[in-house]
This record gives sequence, C-alpha cells and structure tokens, in this order.
Amino acid sequence: MNRQYILIQTPTLLLVLAFFQISFAQGQTVKNIDGPYHNGMVVCATPSASKVGLEILKKGGNAVDAVVAVQFALAVTYPEAGNIGGGGFMVYRNARGESNTLDFREKAPAAASANMYLDSAGNVIPDMSLATHQASGVPGSVDGMAEAHHKYGKLKWAELVQPAIDLAHNGFAISKKLAGSLNWGSTQFKKLNPGKTYLLKDTVWKEGDLLVQEDLAKTLTLIRDKGRDGFYAGKVADEIADEMKNGKGLISKTDLLNYHSIWRKAITGNYKGFKIITMPPPSSGGIALLQLLHSVESYPLHRWGYNRDSTVQLIVEAERRVYADRSKYLGDPDFYKVPVDSLLKPAYIEGRMKSFNWNAATPSSSIQPGSFVGYESDQTTHYSIIDSEGNAVSITTTLNGSFGSKIFVGGAGFLLNNEMDDFSAKPGVPNMFGLVGGKANSIQPGKRMLSSMTPTIIEKNGKLFMVVGTPGGSTIITSVFQTILNVIEFDQDMQQAVTSKRFHHQWLPDQVNIEKDAFDSATMEKLQQKGYKIITGGVGGRVDAILITKDGYQGGADPRGDDSKMGY
Ligand code: DON
Repeated sequence: MNRQYILIQTPTLLLVLAFFQISFAQGQTVKNIDGPYHNGMVVCATPSASKVGLEILKKGGNAVDAVVAVQFALAVTYPEAGNIGGGGFMVYRNARGESNTLDFREKAPAAASANMYLDSAGNVIPDMSLATHQASGVPGSVDGMAEAHHKYGKLKWAELVQPAIDLAHNGFAISKKLAGSLNWGSTQFKKLNPGKTYLLKDTVWKEGDLLVQEDLAKTLTLIRDKGRDGFYAGKVADEIADEMKNGKGLISKTDLLNYHSIWRKAITGNYKGFKIITMPPPSSGGIALLQLLHSVESYPLHRWGYNRDSTVQLIVEAERRVYADRSKYLGDPDFYKVPVDSLLKPAYIEGRMKSFNWNAATPSSSIQPGSFVGYESDQTTHYSIIDSEGNAVSITTTLNGSFGSKIFVGGAGFLLNNEMDDFSAKPGVPNMFGLVGGKANSIQPGKRMLSSMTPTIIEKNGKLFMVVGTPGGSTIITSVFQTILNVIEFDQDMQQAVTSKRFHHQWLPDQVNIEKDAFDSATMEKLQQKGYKIITGGVGGRVDAILITKDGYQGGADPRGDDSKMGY
C-alpha cells in the first residue's frame, strides 16, 4: 500500500474504527439505525428485542408476528417491565385501514374484594397493593399474544417464541441501565423471595455481564409448545397457584383458566383533520388523549411554539380538567358504565375549558369532575411496529411498578405484576402514581383495574401517519399528547418529538412536573407569577414511535432508556 493511499484513507479508517468502538461500547448491537425505511420498522425498549422483531419482519412475518416475538423477547431482555406475568393493550390498524384493539389487561382474582387493602380502621395498608402476593392481578400477556396471533398472525407461533427462548437460554450482555435496575431491585428480591436466585448474583451487576435465565427458558418452551395452555394450565399454572398459596396470594388455578383477553372497538377522534385511533376503557388513556386534543384544538399552538408559556399554560389547564374526569368516570366498562360519549362530546369539553383564565392558574380545588345532563350513572413498556404491507401495531404492556411485585413465581423464572395498585383502594386515596379514583375503579372480583396506557395510531388523509405510545404511569397520557403535538404543531421529526423535554399535570396533586430544563427561565417565571407550582422531576416515559413520511418510516426511540429503532 503506498503512502498516499494510506493518507487518503486515514479519515475513512478512523470513522470506521470510531463506528466499531461505538458499537462495542454499547454492549450488544448498534442501538439505533436511522432510516428512513420502506419495508418495516420496530421501535422498542431494548436493542436485542428490536433485532428479534426486525428479523421476524424480514422473514416475511407481519406486524403482529413481530409483536409476539418482541413481547417475549422483552420478557427476557427487559425484566423491569417486559413480561409474561403482566398485561397490556394493543391497537392495530391494517394496511386497508381497518382497526381493532386487544385488551389483555390483568383482572382482579375471584377472591378479591373492595376493601381488601384496608385495615380494621378503614385505612389503606401501605405497600399491600404493591409488594405482596396480593398485589398481583391475573396475568393477561400470554393470552393476549395467543389471541393476537390467532387472529392476525402469519408465521408459526413456535417460530415467534423461539428467539426469546434462545435469549433466555444463551443469555445476553446487560446494559448499564439494566445492571443499575437489577442492583436497585436486589434487596427487595432477596427479602420477598427467600432462597430463590432468579435475577440475583453474589456480586453487583455490571454493564456487559451475561444474564442467563434458564428457568424462564423452560417456561417459554412450554408456552412455545402449548400456546396459552403452557401458561394458564399445567406446570406453570401449578407453580403460580403454589406461589400464591405460600404467600397468601389470591390467584387460583380457576382464575388462570378463566382469564381471556377481549377484542374491543377502538375509540376514534379527530384533531385538525388527523384521525386518532386509540384504546378504549379499561384504559383511560384513549379517552383522556381525545379530550386533551380537543381541549387545545382551537388555539394557535403552532404560532406560540414548543414549551412557550402560553402553550404550557393551556396544556396544563386542559390536563387538570381531564384528569379530574378520569378520577370519577373511568373504569372497567364490563363493570361500570363509562360515559364515553358524554366525555367526548365537543360541547362538553369546550365547556370545561370555559373556566380557564389566562391571568392565573385555576386551583385544582376549584375543579371537580364534570357533570352531564342525562349521565348514565353509574415499569411498563411500549413498542411500535410497522410491516412491509403497512400493517401497524401500537402496544403497551406492563408489570406496573419496576419488576412488578418483585415476587418470583416458584422456579418458573418470571415476575408477577403489582397491577392491583391501579384500582382505587379507597375513594380519594392516591395510588403509587398519585392518581385518585372512586366507585368506577373500585375493586371487584374479575374486574380490570383502570389504566393510563395510551397505545395510539394516527391517520392523515386516510393513510397511516404515526404509531405512538409510552410507559410512565399517570404521565403516559400527557407524554403521548405532547409527542403528537410536537409533530403536528411544532414541526419536529419523530426522533426530536420523542427526545423533547416533557411536562405533566394530573389535577391532583396541584403541581406541574417538568423534566430538567424543560422550560427556559422566562417561561418559568411567567408561569410561576400566575400561580403555577413547578416541580422538576416526576416526568419521564420512554416514548417509542414511528412516523410515516414521504421518504419512508422514521423512528423515534426514547433516549431516556435503552430504547432502540431498527428498520429495513
Ligand atoms: O396501567 C397503568 O396505567 C400503569 N400500570 C402503568 C405503569 C407504568 O407505566 C409504569 N412505568 N413506568
């Protein structure tokens, strides 16, 4: 090689080396591959699960096939929230524009009762709905995946579960964030699971350590071979029932056999000509999102700009009113008549905004849930996938808290959810996300607890435009709302819209939570002068979204996590 050749090639060589260094530094694979793409895209919480989904798409699997594979891969690679012991919601839109939603939310066991978390004086017993065997609802994820696959899947079920088995059996190099989470959880894991070794290690977890989950691989093998029966019957069901018996939990084998996810008609709405397709109850997310969008629709957000004081004030006041409604009217529609039509009537939403005053914050104490004439009384993870035909899925799934109840099922290698905390244990007493509720969301046997999960798909001129959603407890709804506005009003591309700083208000407590540096000092000052209490922290989410542009699929993977976007 002559000297001149080496000189010319050096910058290129350095770039190539730098690229490999970055790839190795990130542990497993390249985290984000920027598109745009035309054939398919997966955006989810871990690079390994994204890769699994992408490979299914490349093999000719459709978006639902990829969903099944990613769900199981996340149960292995993202144990904080990816799960087989939890539940979730899926919004689907096929290439012909037909939509559907699947509710695979957990249910209260048959032995659950309204006052189960209260002591004899009627007070809520701290942590009982969070870190005990009684904190778990009957899991829905495996049934949800089986249902989704049965209705829409193309490839064989076994082919979709196998990559997760391989990841559990062979192990994978953990990220810095997962090492941190595992170390954070270890004290509780030991306390709640005496004698068990799952997710535990003698020394602290470090980035790059191999996490092998042999027991989980065996459980997944049963699911691969027997479908839903591999989880809700036989060995795994026995193990769940035994675990419950040993820890005074409530889930029985009958509860497991009786668990079924439900197809529900999507709720839809419009925002400036965009059609919003989203999740109906028992998630509050869809209704709240549509209410929020309508509350701000007539204002010139685009002119005001992203996170300017008028924009923030309007959004906060809309959120305050919408979360007040959530506290009273939202619950499982199979148990409580949710007044969907009344809540979404444009005149009702506009009426709610009439008490909004530009000069001063409306105190939450002066806002109550709305009333209608003729009212008919009475650590989560999100992923977005599009396939080569243009079928799209937006799906959010959860154990509720990080690692759920932190209770392991026998030797079956998985965690149970603590979703029961999403019920209202007592009217007016806040849950772990500070959310309050009442009768609509009281505990009843077989009822699904209210959720904030907001998997959403948006159309523009009848064509697929965006697939979006996030974890984040009560902040899910406001994060999805802001991400949509970032694109539609503030001209941000998908990655920018996901990365942009967010803020949140949920009626009670009466405060605006913001990410660090979300507002500039002038905005901050103006809002404070009007009486807004602003707290830094308590907002986050991991928005994973896809935008369909004229150039192709454009992903937004949340940099707040290990989230990753891959396409082809
Ligand atoms: O369904 C819900 O609204 C909650 N269980 C979601 C929990 C959650 O997002 C936690 N993750 N950050």
